[in-house]
Formats: sequence, C-alpha cells, structure tokens
Amino acid sequence: MGVVVVMPEANAAAGTLGAAAAQSGRYFGTAIAAGRLGDSTYTTIAGREFNMVTAENEMKPDATEPQRGQFNFSSSDQIYNWATQRGMKVRGHTLAWHAQQPGWMQSLSGSSLRQAMIDHINGVMAHYKGKLAYWDVVNEAFNEDGSRRQSNLQATGNDWIEVAFRTARTADPSVKLCYNDYNIENWSYGKTQGVYNMIRDFKSRGVPIDCVGLQTHFTGGSSLPSNFQTTLTSFASLGVDVALTEVDVTNASTTQYAGLTQACLNVPRCVGITVWGVRDSDSWRSSENPLLFDGGGNKKAAYTSVLNALNAAGPVTPSPTPSGGTGSPSPSATPGGAKRIIGAQSGRCIDVPNASQNNGTRVQLYDCNGQANQAWTLTSSKQLTVYGSKCLDAAGSGNASAVQIYSCNGQANQQWNVNSNGTITGVQSGRCLDVWGTGNGQQVQIYDCNGQANQRFSLN
Ligand code: G3I
Repeated sequence: MGVVVVMPEANAAAGTLGAAAAQSGRYFGTAIAAGRLGDSTYTTIAGREFNMVTAENEMKPDATEPQRGQFNFSSSDQIYNWATQRGMKVRGHTLAWHAQQPGWMQSLSGSSLRQAMIDHINGVMAHYKGKLAYWDVVNEAFNEDGSRRQSNLQATGNDWIEVAFRTARTADPSVKLCYNDYNIENWSYGKTQGVYNMIRDFKSRGVPIDCVGLQTHFTGGSSLPSNFQTTLTSFASLGVDVALTEVDVTNASTTQYAGLTQACLNVPRCVGITVWGVRDSDSWRSSENPLLFDGGGNKKAAYTSVLNALNAAGPVTPSPTPSGGTGSPSPSATPGGAKRIIGAQSGRCIDVPNASQNNGTRVQLYDCNGQANQAWTLTSSKQLTVYGSKCLDAAGSGNASAVQIYSCNGQANQQWNVNSNGTITGVQSGRCLDVWGTGNGQQVQIYDCNGQANQRFSLN
C-alpha cells in the first residue's frame, strides 16, 4: 500500500501580485489617489493585490507645501495610513521636481529657490522620518538628449541635484534615496546615458544615492526596448537598487508586461515593480487602457501574464552566507539578552545573509554560528530585533510573503507572538513563520499555520 505524503503547500503558486513578487523578496506596488479611497472596488483590489504604495499626486510639492513654510499632509497621510494599516510599505514621490510646484515656488529663483528646495525637503522628510521605504528625491531632471532639463531648479546651479540628495540623507538616514525618470529604459538612448553618468559621478564622489527609479511608461508611443534588462543591470552595477516605478503599457500588451516583469526578475538588484494606477479608468492615460484591471475591476490578460512570470521565478536561492568574521565562530554564544531562533526540523538558525544591515534583506536558515546576524531579541512590544534597531519584518500579510529585516517602526507587520507550541505568528497576518526546507540558504516566509515541524522554532 502506498503512503500518502502530504506536502506542505508552502510552494503553491501565489494568488496575488504582492505575494507572488514577495517569493523572490520583491514588492509589487501601485499608485494610489486619495480621492479614490472611498471607492470600495478600488480599495478591495488595491488592498488585495499590492504591498507597496506610491501617492500619485499627494506627496508632491504643490500638495505638501501649498504656502511657503506651511506644510499640509492631510491627503498624503490619508494614503500613508491606508497603506500601512494594511501592512503595505510606502514610496515617497517626490521632493524636487520642475512640475507640480506650488505657485510661490514657481516664482522664486536663485539662492531663495535653492533655500526653498532645501527647506521643503527638510519639512516633508521630517514628517515621514523613519516611515517610508524609498523617496524619489529628484524627479525628471534630464532632457531626452541626456543634458539637464532647463528648469528653475537647474538655473540655481548644476549642483542642485546633489544638494537635494545630501539634504535628504541628513533629514532621514533610514530611507532609501532615489532618482526617478521616464524614457531611461533604452540603454542606447541619450537620456539613459545622461542619468547613468550622473549616478556614476555621484557614486565616485560619495554623493548619497541608493536607487534609480525607471518609470517604465510604455505609453504615449513608447514601448519595451529589447535592451531593458541591460539598462537595469548597468545601473545596478553602479551599486544602486533599481525599481520600475510607474509602469503602464499601451493596451496592456501581455508580451510587454511579461517582458518588463521578467527583466526585473532577472536582475538581483531590481527590488520591485509599481504600476501607475489600479484600473484603466484610474490611469492618467485611461484612453490607452494601460493597466492590469479593466474599468470594472476585472483582471486583464496582462494581469495573468505578470502573475505567471512572478510565480515562475519562485523563491530565490541566495548564495551561502560567509562566516563574516575571522577565527572560528563560537557555536552557542549570543550577545547579551539575545537568542538564536532555531528551526525544529532543520536545527539551523534564522540568519541575516552576509550579515547585511540593509532594509529589505530577506532572512534564511543557516548553520548556527553565534554571531550578531543570528542574534534576536524579543522585546516587550513583540518585536524580534537584530543589530539593535532592525526588526524581523513581514513584507506583506499573504501566504508566501517574505520575512526580512527592516528598520523598526512599531507597526504590526513587525510584531510576533512566540507561542508555546513552537510557532511564531505574525500579529498582522496571523500566519506562521515557515521554511520550505532544511538546508542552508532556505528562505523564511509567512504561511498559513499547518502544525508541521517546518513551522516550529525554539528561542535559546
Ligand atoms: O484634482 C484636480 C481637480 O480638482 C481639477 O478639477 C482638475 C482640473 O484639471 O485637476 C485635478 O488635478 C489633476 C491631478 O492630476 C489629479 O487628477 C491635475 O490637473 C493633473 O495635472 C494631475 O496629473 C498628474 C500628473 O502627474 C501631473 O504632472 C497625474 O494624475 C499623475 O498620474 C502624473 O504622474 C506623473 C508622475 O508624478 C511622474 N511621472 C510621470 C507621471 C505621469 O504624468
């Protein structure tokens, strides 16, 4: 008689864009408009499918500083609160831009405009300090030929972009700082080269920059270039993350949507994809029907092509963790108060790969080594902290959402119940910490609790 082996369902294909992207440690986001949060079709889709949110207009300078020195965060906070209450992360957009400046800013020039830009960055970033995953610090500063756009900001001096980034780093050292632009997807295009040269120059001179956002508007006559992945790889090789930040595609071509998704999946530093709206009717280019849901909220063929590409990529296999230090690791010692989290099935420890302290680093199983990247402290507020200020963090609340480290922010996706039956459940999701297997490098995720040994851990 055969024995029926019930396999854990942890490797079942994910059913939403956010969960599918989370399998490889990425996010899938959307632009959200505050004015649509009262539309339940819209919020149902957005809340279900995505785990990153960009405010479509509400964090732009005209919205956040309508009068000089008087900041208004009512609409932006509406979006921030809606997203974070659902366990989503938020991408700030945008601090310094030639467009959507308030009237008072448009009329300034020279040193007073430069100071106004600095004050604006400080004012807005102070409000969101420690709360956002990314900020588009500077948006759309280049011409199509790769020269600088002749805006009022450019007229304050060619160094305005680096001043913006330096100001931003000081204002909030915890958030990743991005340059964001459109028509920089084709590697052989002048604008792409102009932006690339600026990032290379910034990196060589130590100007703080962490990421490049490629808007990926394949609308209005643009389409997916065959060298898109080369562009992503080339930017990433400068030492920055890349992200697809405002995706839309004329008539939602399935081949272009699948192709842009695959290009991101093929580049390890491509951290996520954001579409520029939920339904076609929500799009700034609604006549091109460029999004993943139709006006009635139905999934389009492009949705399926993106979901399938994300699911086909599945979980990544990280490279094994080097021991990091010199000499032999002590097998059981942990820093004061901290404990190891040891898998019951594997005997291995929950480990931050390469002792990385970067937000978004996904945790894995690895041979217990007594080092700081395996030392977790359970706090009275149910956080599991590592390195003092980083928390064990669920990148979403659905099945197969990644578990990573992230700056502690007090939110429910960073709170865990350590249960007497050995499971560790996410306060936000109610789901269990779960591993696919027992080997070194096995990634940790959250999954429906199933009572099996791959979901039991001990803290000691
Ligand atoms: O809300 C007002 C409404 O009260 C008024 O009656 C109406 C009259 O025109 O305007 C409405 O505001 C519009 C706003 O969108 C909200 O719909 C603005 O006029 C309009 O200019 C604004 O357009 C936004 C555009 O940025 C402005 O540059 C789009 O929604 C937004 O999708 C778009 O997003 C940009 C990214 O920030 C940067 N990359 C390109 C992308 C597409 O243009």
